[in-house]
This record gives sequence, structure tokens and C-alpha cells, in this order.
Amino acid sequence: MNTTSMETKTTAIPKQFQIAEPIHQKHYLVNGSLETWDGPTTEVYSTIASGTPYAPTLIGSIPDMGEPEAMTALNAALVAYDEGKGVWPTMKVSDRIECMEKFVLQMQAKREQVVKLLMWEIGKSLPDSQKEFDRTVEYIRDTIEDYKQLDRNSAKFQKHEGVYAHIRRGPLGVVLCLGPYNYPLNETFALLIPAIIMGNTTIFKPAKHGVLLITPLLEAFNNSFPKGVVNILFGRGRAVAAPIMKTGKVDVLALIGNSKSANALQEQHPKSNRLRLVLGLEAKNPAIVLPDADLDLSIDECIAGTLSFNGQRCTALKIVYVHEDIKEEFLKRFAKRVDSLKFGNPWDKDVKLTPLPEPGKPAYIRELIDDALSKGASIINKKGGQQSENYIWPAIVYPVTKDMRAYQEEQFGPLIPVVSFKDIEEPLDDMAESNYGQQVSLFGKDVYTLAPLIDTLVNLVCRVNLNSSCQRGPDVYPFTGRKDSAQSTLSVHDALRSFSIRTFVAFKDNELNTETIEQLLETKLSNFISTDYIL
Ligand code: G3H
Repeated sequence: MNTTSMETKTTAIPKQFQIAEPIHQKHYLVNGSLETWDGPTTEVYSTIASGTPYAPTLIGSIPDMGEPEAMTALNAALVAYDEGKGVWPTMKVSDRIECMEKFVLQMQAKREQVVKLLMWEIGKSLPDSQKEFDRTVEYIRDTIEDYKQLDRNSAKFQKHEGVYAHIRRGPLGVVLCLGPYNYPLNETFALLIPAIIMGNTTIFKPAKHGVLLITPLLEAFNNSFPKGVVNILFGRGRAVAAPIMKTGKVDVLALIGNSKSANALQEQHPKSNRLRLVLGLEAKNPAIVLPDADLDLSIDECIAGTLSFNGQRCTALKIVYVHEDIKEEFLKRFAKRVDSLKFGNPWDKDVKLTPLPEPGKPAYIRELIDDALSKGASIINKKGGQQSENYIWPAIVYPVTKDMRAYQEEQFGPLIPVVSFKDIEEPLDDMAESNYGQQVSLFGKDVYTLAPLIDTLVNLVCRVNLNSSCQRGPDVYPFTGRKDSAQSTLSVHDALRSFSIRTFVAFKDNELNTETIEQLLETKLSNFISTDYIL
């Protein structure tokens, strides 16, 4: 067992990345007003140390809200929707797009602040934090373009069996939006932005980490959308989200996180048949390394897949199956690579491994390692399991068996369980038995072996990555999963569909209707009945 400790990174912090003063967030956004909070607050600590001896750094505080504020926000969203009569759900598509364009411009101006907070709050490296911000801006721009196309495709009438139809996509109502801590900006906005643009009204509560980074954007939300369309609360899920669900007035629960919280919230809703779900949940994506795999490439991809952002990604490779014939060579080379990765603070050059934002995570990963060791596994890499106050070095644990927690649980951190197999049916059976079904990485060359495998794997998961690590992007591709891994599909295009419903005006072909529709089109009195093209 490797219980040696590693050094906690406390090197001097470059000036441009220092947080001059803790950010005490006193505002929240409800009903078009940045309200001031004078109730209880929760301190926000970063696990990154700013001196020696090690101590977490206080970077600010956030409001600790409860049921009364939750009800005020819900009420604001309900009034703004106004049972479909509200300004926002009935607004012309081109006007909603204009509001979103205004928002994204203001958001871009906050890049530096948001990136700095991403590093401090969740320990994401500088290039990855910048990528998260830029990818989100691009996602918003792509969403606008896709919505324009969707609208162009609807600017027409169809006729079947003597009945005309003018079909569009309309909003669903009030959306409660909850994002995860590992992509507090990108994943949250991948829910919030399509929900808003489709004409829904929203209540959004940031995740447990990565909260302060939302605060520079409050004003942009407030200036860009009509009052009540976006309401932003702070606090614990059970204090804020649960009472909102209990009212039964939420039409869509949009959550990226784990199935336990999704189920608990869903159960609060008194009429589950009325609740739409857009969920991105946990996964245990396997890598399957076949005997003829290109080892250099497989190892590169398995490093990226298991350890990008320390494995704290729902798409991370969380278990690696290696064929018996190549396991020794694979493990030897893989172990060397893992131990050569650079650990440091997010702004350090070439850093790959960074402090874990959850204070209890190193101890949790240690529990999984100890459990595996007690059941017959070993740590393959020299540094594996070395621990500091805010990190635990990624351990390659082998051979992992089904009775181990490292096999059963979604570790969501730096731990790499490895299983060897003789017969390909072994990983396939495990995947079929698993509660999860998001993605798989398949490494191999022989097309006679790959073809039947691909044909089966696409029915067990929703994305088969050939000689490539698992990932969500590019964001135009469908992001979804089977079983406990997701409900609904997200992508730039699919998200617009997930947050809307087809609704239409139909009329029998007769003189009165033709004349009425012609007048409606001519006078442009209706925002729904329109054949205008948004260019
Ligand atoms: O946490 C899950 C994210 O959707 C993963 O996205 O594959 O782009 O890192 P990514």
C-alpha cells in the first residue's frame, strides 16, 4: 500500500492569478432585480493553498438561501411565463435571439474573471478553464445559428388531406436548472441557454463548487432578458430546489449531476407525468483494449480519458479492460506515463494534475484503493496513492474484480481500475449488466473483430469511440446515455428540441381560412403565424 505523502503545492501565486480580496457575493437575481441578501452566508474555500503550512484559501462567501427566496424566484418565473401569455414565451424568435446576442457580448467581457474563478474554485487548469469559457461562448453562438435554421424550417405551411398546418416548436413552461461542479459554466449553460432561447422561463441554482464564477454574469443576465425569465439563487439543493419541485409548478427539471439527486427531486413533484426531464447523469465508461491495439495511441488516449481534469468528468474512462496478451506491456508503459504527469496549481505551466476541489475526495479515493487492495489488487504505478492535503496521485489498480468498490462506484477522481480479459464477451457482459450506458472507447485494428463489436456496443451505450478517448464534444454531436446515465439528448441542435414541444395551427382548406391566414401574414399581428425568414 502506498501511503507516502506528496508535497502540497504552495509556490508563489503569480500576480495575475491572485484574488486580491475575497468575493462576498451579496446579490441574487429574482424578477429582473439584483436583490441584496442580508441573511446567512456560506464561506467559499478553495483547496488551493496560498501559503505554508497548508490551509485552504478563503475566496469569498455566497448567500445561503431557503424556501422563501425559492418561492419568490418560482413565482417570478411563473409570472414571466404567465401560462404562455408572457412577453417572453410569445415574443418573436428574432427578438429572443437579439436578447441572447446581447447577453453573449456582455458575457465575453467577463472572460478573465470567470477563468480565474474556475481555477480557484474547482482547480481546473488555465488552458482547460479558458477552453471551458470559450467553448461555452461558441455553444451560445452555435445555438443562436441553429435556432435561426429551426425557425427558417418552420416558416411554411404544409397540407395533407385538405388540412393545412403551420408547425413550430414552442416552450414548455418553467425550467429548474441545476448544473454540476466539474463544468460549472459549460454544462450549466448547455442547459440554461437552450431553455431560455426556446421561450421558457428559468430558475437556476449553481452547483456546490464553482458558484462565485457565476456572479460576474448576474448583471448580463439581468440586462439582457425581460424580468423573471432568468432567476438565479444560491444555497443548498435541498433547501432551494426541493421546495420548488414540491409545488408541482415546474415543467422541466434540467439537471447534470447524479441519479440520486435527480430521483430525489423528481419524487418531490406531485404530478410526475407533467414533469419533463433533461438529465445528464453518472457513467462508468470503459476502455476496451484489444490484443492488436496500437499501444502508444491507446495509452495516450487512456491517459486523456482517465485523467483529464483528474477524472472528474462524467465522460471520463472509469474502468480499463485490457486483453491478457498485452496486459503486462500495457500496464508497464501506462504506469510510467501516469507517474510522469505534472502536478501543480492550475496556472502552472504544462500542469496536468491539479488540486481536487472536494476536500473529502482524497480520502474517498483512498477508501476505494484500500478496499481493492484488501481484496487482492495491487497499485501498479510507483506514485499511485501518494497523498497530500488536496490531492491523491492517480493509482492504477490491478486486477480489479466485481466485488471491489473501484469496480462498482463512479470514482469521479484520480483512480484507474484495470481489469484483464481473455474473451471479449467478458467486458460485453459487464457492460450489459452495468447500470450505466453512456460511452465506450474501443482500441483495436482488425476490422473483422471490430465490426461485430461495434454493432453490439452501439446498442449498449450511445457513443462508441474508436481508438479515441470518450468525450462529450464537439458539442454539435448528440450527448446522451442509456439506463442511469441520461434522459433526453443534448447537443446544440437536440437541446433546442429537448426544451420545447411541437405545437401548431391547423385549418381546413376553405375560403374563410385562406383569407384569415393571408391577413394574419400580411398584418404580422401574430408572432407564431409568420413566414418571415431570419437571416
Ligand atoms: O462531465 C461530463 C462532461 O459532459 C464531459 O464533457 O467530455 O467535453 O469533458 P467533456
